[in-house]
Amino acid sequence: MSVLQRFLLALALLSSVSYGQEVVRLNDSNFEHDTQASTGSTTGNWLLTFCPTLHCSTYPHLSSLLLELSVEDEILTSGIIPSTLSPENSINTFLRFKIDTSLSHPVLIYLHRGGLYTFRGDFRKDNELREWLLGKFKNWNPKPIPEEHKGGLLFGYKDIPDLLNDFNRIQSQHGLLINCICLGSGLFFMILLAMLIGKITEDGSTGTKKND
Ligand SMILES: *[C@@H]1O[C@H](CO)[C@@H](O)[C@H](O)[C@H]1NC(C)=O
Repeated sequence: MSVLQRFLLALALLSSVSYGQEVVRLNDSNFEHDTQASTGSTTGNWLLTFCPTLHCSTYPHLSSLLLELSVEDEILTSGIIPSTLSPENSINTFLRFKIDTSLSHPVLIYLHRGGLYTFRGDFRKDNELREWLLGKFKNWNPKPIPEEHKGGLLFGYKDIPDLLNDFNRIQSQHGLLINCICLGSGLFFMILLAMLIGKITEDGSTGTKKND
């Protein structure tokens, strides 16, 4: 293959990764519905790829590997469903599976017959993840799948992302209005503060006069 051919092939692959078929993206709203993880009998054998830093696309090698796996016969017939999760819309699921969001590397968790297995290998090594998914994971003892958080401390974990989402949505739609309101109320309080300080110093000066 010529250099140009290689380049064109790479380009084609790259564009199919970014624009073509995608690996299932899970988030807090669809996680339980799609995986049925709480029931103990998941809808399939889910490979959950937690990407603490932004999105899994920040790991191009991993993204293309997951995409590759998701269309492979052996993976499909084993009922393995590769998926990705990012903290921006899956923070509850990160908390549920105790994934530290300050990690700089992805965490791969495999759900198989009500058991949880964590991939400890190196996904960059040829076939390591594939072979693990297709059987080697059984060399480890499964852990139970953590329960879904029902309510939480302050708002319930569920509400926090919803609130953030709402705020982001409102801000993106009415950003100018919100900025005006913030600026307006900021000015209002500054004026109020200025008046208050003015009043205090005025009182203070009258006070001194009286004492004179
Ligand atoms: C979660 O994913 C579903 C399906 O892709 C999408 O319809 C929904 O808007 C997503 N929700 C959030 C909060 O990102």
